[in-house]
Amino acid sequence: MMRLLPNCSNKTMKIAKTIAELKSCLEDFGRDKTIGFVPTMGYLHDGHLALINEAQSQNDVTVVSIFVNPTQFAPGEDLDAYPRDFDRDSQLAEAAGTDLLFFPDPAEIYPTGASTFVEVEGDITKKLCGQSRPTHFKGVTTVINLLFNLIQPTRAYFGQKDAQQVAVIKKMIRDLHMSVEIIVCPIVREADGLALSSRNVFLNLAARDQALVLSQSLASAKALYGSGERSVKIIKAAIINQITTMPLAAIDYVDILDFETLADIETITSPALAAVAVRFGNTRLIDNIILIKR
Ligand code: PAF
Repeated sequence: MMRLLPNCSNKTMKIAKTIAELKSCLEDFGRDKTIGFVPTMGYLHDGHLALINEAQSQNDVTVVSIFVNPTQFAPGEDLDAYPRDFDRDSQLAEAAGTDLLFFPDPAEIYPTGASTFVEVEGDITKKLCGQSRPTHFKGVTTVINLLFNLIQPTRAYFGQKDAQQVAVIKKMIRDLHMSVEIIVCPIVREADGLALSSRNVFLNLAARDQALVLSQSLASAKALYGSGERSVKIIKAAIINQITTMPLAAIDYVDILDFETLADIETITSPALAAVAVRFGNTRLIDNIILIKR
């Protein structure tokens, strides 16, 4: 269920469909302005709107992109089925205070013959989502690079729900000496705990109900950690046991890793990321929680 954030804007939002239009709008804003950039694949929900709000509060200009990026989907994944509703998205983006919405066609971003990719190598892209989606992060880092090159943002905003994406993008920023600041915003959840995702729309009633096990199992992990448990094996087993009580849930992964580096750990001695990916039919959901001493 969409809860609209308060309309904090009476500005008129510009829409650019081509790179030429994007550049011309950015010139009009003035290159001395700070730019907050929120990259999205559309079908906006309150999680995206929270990122836009944050961008708006920290920058002179807020740019949002809506681009269902083909290079981050492998053949057979849900590229064609990915939910799209540009009219609704543009209204939501404008109401949230976006100054410029970039909505390019795939051919604008990847013209015929384009064959350059940006890839973060190593374990960081191979574990968690990288196991079942081995080409996914290469597509993400390629498009993010491309969008950063075009928009030259001061700050870019990402949700903690995509914790691995955040870690990979931060590593790319460090490795390539890019100057954009990455701002990570907390996971936005439905009242019952389900993390917001554009893919939630695919869940039928039974799957929607059982999908609560993601946030519930992570809450149990947090409680276990809070009670003093530090063994990754024990906390992981507790999460898996809880998820497998749901007949529709097929676990893709459950893991607990070092929060910063995503390195494997056996005992939690510094902030750790407990992350899960679970399929309900064709819909794959992810969620995570940070285990940290309070
Ligand atoms: O998180 C997403 O929606 C996408 O991976 C992103 C960052 C917009 C790149 O296509």
